[in-house]
Amino acid sequence: MSKKNSSQMAEKMEGNESGNAETQEPGKMAATVPEKLITIDHVTKIYRDGGRSAVKAVDDLCLDIYKGETLGLVGESGCGKSTTGNLLVRLLQTDEGSITYRGQDITKMSEKQFHPLRRNIQMVFQDPYSSINPKKKIGWLLEEPLVIHHKKLSKEERQEKVKEMLRVVGLDEEYRNRYPRQLSGGQRQRVSIALALILNPAFIVADEPVSALDVSVQAQILNLMKKLQKEYSLTYLFISHDLNVVSYLSDRIGVMYLGNLVELGSWEQVSTRPRHPYTQALFAAANAEESNGTPLLQGDVPSPSDPPSGCPFHTRCPQCMERCRREKPVLTEIEDGWKAACFLE
Ligand SMILES: Nc1ncnc2c1ncn2[C@@H]1O[C@H](COP(=O)(O)OP(=O)(O)OP(=O)(O)O)[C@@H](O)[C@H]1O
Ligand SMILES: [Mg+2]
Repeated sequence: MSKKNSSQMAEKMEGNESGNAETQEPGKMAATVPEKLITIDHVTKIYRDGGRSAVKAVDDLCLDIYKGETLGLVGESGCGKSTTGNLLVRLLQTDEGSITYRGQDITKMSEKQFHPLRRNIQMVFQDPYSSINPKKKIGWLLEEPLVIHHKKLSKEERQEKVKEMLRVVGLDEEYRNRYPRQLSGGQRQRVSIALALILNPAFIVADEPVSALDVSVQAQILNLMKKLQKEYSLTYLFISHDLNVVSYLSDRIGVMYLGNLVELGSWEQVSTRPRHPYTQALFAAANAEESNGTPLLQGDVPSPSDPPSGCPFHTRCPQCMERCRREKPVLTEIEDGWKAACFLE
C-alpha cells in the first residue's frame, strides 16, 4: 500500500486515540504519572441459576489498569479471571460497581453509547475456533469489523487493511482466502490477534491466549503480542493460569482467589516476595511442577456458591489464625503499588 493511501485510511479510521507518540515502555512508568486507562471500582458479578444457587464469581473487585502496561491476572480454575475479562469487554453485565474506560463508565452505557468505544476495547480468546465463525473465510472475518465500525472505507481500502493486518501478525496475505479449519492452532490465534487489532484498539483482554497451543508455538505468539504492544501502544490484561506464561509479558500481576483479588503488585515484587499465602503456594506449586511435577497446593477450592466465612483462603491456608475464620481481610498496601489481603504481618 502506498504511503498516501495509508495515511488517508488512517484519517478515516481514527481509532486508538492514544497514538504512538506517547508510547511508554511497559513497566517503565515511574518517570511520568501513569495514566489510568481502566478503573474497576467495587465490581461484583453473580451468576444466578434460576434462583436455585448463586455463584459470586467476582466479589467487590477494585483494580486500575494503566496505559501501556501488561497486567497479568492469575489464579486457579474458577477463581473469576474470565468473568473479569468478560465484564471489561461487556460480554457480561456487572451486578454492582462500575468499570470506567478513560473516565467513562462503560457499565451504565447503552449499546449505542458504547458502540464507538467498542473498537478500543478488544478481546483475544483461548480457543479461536469457538470465537471465530468457522464457515467464513479469514478475509471476510477480518473485513467485517471494518464494515461495522468504519463505514467510510471503500471495499478496496478494507481489503488493503486486511492484507496489512495479516502481514502484521506474520501471515501471508493469501490466507484471506482460507477457512479457519485450514489453519493450524497458532495460525488461527494469529488471525484472532489480527481481528482484535484491526480496529486499532487501546486495550486488549487476552484470556488464556496461548493455553491451547504447543509450547514452541506459545513462545511465537507471546513474542508477537510483545512486539505488537510496543508498535501499537497497547495495554493488555493478560489472563492465564500459567505463571511462566504470565512472567513473559507482565509488568504487574493480580492474584485472584474465589472471586477476590488477594494480591496485586509489580511482577518483581510479587514473584520474588509473594506476601499472601495463596500467592506463595501458587509460586511454590509452579516451581515444584517445573522440577518434579508435584503440585504443592493441597485441597480443593471451596464452592463459590458456598464460600467460606472470613478470609476466602482460610480453609486451605497453612498459616490460618482464629481471626481469619471470622473476618475478611481487605487489600492493604504493603509498599508502593503492592497490596495483599492478609492479616499476617
Ligand atoms: N455462565 C456461567 N453460569 C454459572 N456459573 C458460571 C458461569 N461462568 C462461570 N461460572 C462460575 O463462575 C466462577 C468463575 O468462573 P470463571 O470462568 O470466571 O473462572 P476462571 O478463573 O476463568 O477459570 P478457568 O481458569 O477455568 O478459565 C466459577 O465457579 C464458574 O463455575
Ligand atoms: Mg477462564
